Amino acid sequence: MLQIRENVSLKNFNTFGVEANARFFVEINHEDELTELFLDPKWLQLPRLVLGGGSNMLFTQDFKGLVIRMNIRGIEHRINHEEVYVEAGAGESWKELVDYCVSHNFAGMENLTLIPGSVGASPVQNIGAYGVELKDVFESCQAFEIATQQKKTFIKEACGFGYRESIFKGELKNQFIITSVKFKLSLQPKVNTKYGAIEDELHKQEILNPTIGAISKVVAHIRVSKLPDPSTIGNAGSFFQNPVISFGEFEEIKNKFPEIVHYPAGDNKIKLAAGWLIEQCGWKGKIVGETGTWKNQALVLVNHGCASGSEIYALSSQIIDSVYNKFGVKLHREVNIL
Ligand code: FAD
Ligand code: EPU
Repeated sequence: MLQIRENVSLKNFNTFGVEANARFFVEINHEDELTELFLDPKWLQLPRLVLGGGSNMLFTQDFKGLVIRMNIRGIEHRINHEEVYVEAGAGESWKELVDYCVSHNFAGMENLTLIPGSVGASPVQNIGAYGVELKDVFESCQAFEIATQQKKTFIKEACGFGYRESIFKGELKNQFIITSVKFKLSLQPKVNTKYGAIEDELHKQEILNPTIGAISKVVAHIRVSKLPDPSTIGNAGSFFQNPVISFGEFEEIKNKFPEIVHYPAGDNKIKLAAGWLIEQCGWKGKIVGETGTWKNQALVLVNHGCASGSEIYALSSQIIDSVYNKFGVKLHREVNIL
């Protein structure tokens, strides 16, 4: 029987740890419960928010509709020659899924170790880290269409994956609830060490032929050294996306700032390191009231105690303005603002 609660605090359901209230709140443990939920047309009329771990959300106000917290569990795998298909429920923890794959020696996800949040949210922004993106291991996902209450399968080609982008964040925003995701991994231990920080760390630890377990540990080590742990300091990881600009615009900026940190982004485009831009504007480690940017990674905005979502949002606006004034580059928020 579905339990719909009223006036629920979301403080423990967002990694910024900011206070906000949900008018209605329901936890979904099985996909059939979605069908059951929408038998009542009331829930089709009110605004809805699908929530996983709340690690990419900033609440700046109370939510006047229904929060649907995804808690569908289960991980299973099927081996087919050199490949393995792993399927996980939307409410599984991403971290635990990666640990499961690494411990079974299924290769492909190890660079995505320790990203917070749920499996169901992973396709939404095509999570990525240390040279790998979700799309590299994604096979398909099952989703529930709210308007028709039908289940639909999305194969990779239908998802419009790009840098921190997918169809679920774009044209199908708020229309589908992802219930499970299937991944294609390899039984051949191929490792991806092309991200500079991984190579440096392997070198430092004198690891010559890394296993996928070793890559996972190295990535975890780098992440812990740079990123604040949300269980002690509220944050949502990178607050902004790394801006992607044309080669022409880049040349102009580089003339003025020759040391600018950048990467080729294909298609005659260049990706700039937003953390560098923000640091150059003097924001790194700065504390503004109860909020600020992280001392080891300027791209991460933090809650030092009891900041409100609006204070964090206001700081992000100040940062956008100062980066624009200095470099002429507009930063876009990666975190979902509500
Ligand atoms: P939520 O924050 O709950 O939701 C995010 C969005 O997805 C919302 O729009 C929500 O409506 C939607 N959504 C959630 N579940 C579903 C579903 N089942 N169906 C449909 N829509 C859904 N991200 C990276 O890409 N790379 C990183 O390296 C990285 N590092 C991080 C480090 C830290 C310390 C933190 C706090 C965050 C980091 N993130 C990173 C961001 C975050 O972990 C990811 O975006 C993650 O996928 C969010 O998962 P979640 O379950 O918490 O999603
Ligand atoms: N840099 C600075 N100052 C800073 C931060 C970064 O100068 O304060 C420069 C450094 O030169 C550094 C470079 O920027 O070498 C890149 O920094 P880092 O390796 O930390 O990666 P990032 O580009 O800042 C991106 C993702 C992260 C992901 C890492 C690793 C985005 C928006 N962020 O950060 O994802 O973990 O790469 O792949 O693309 C997230 O999305 O929440 C997230 C944490």
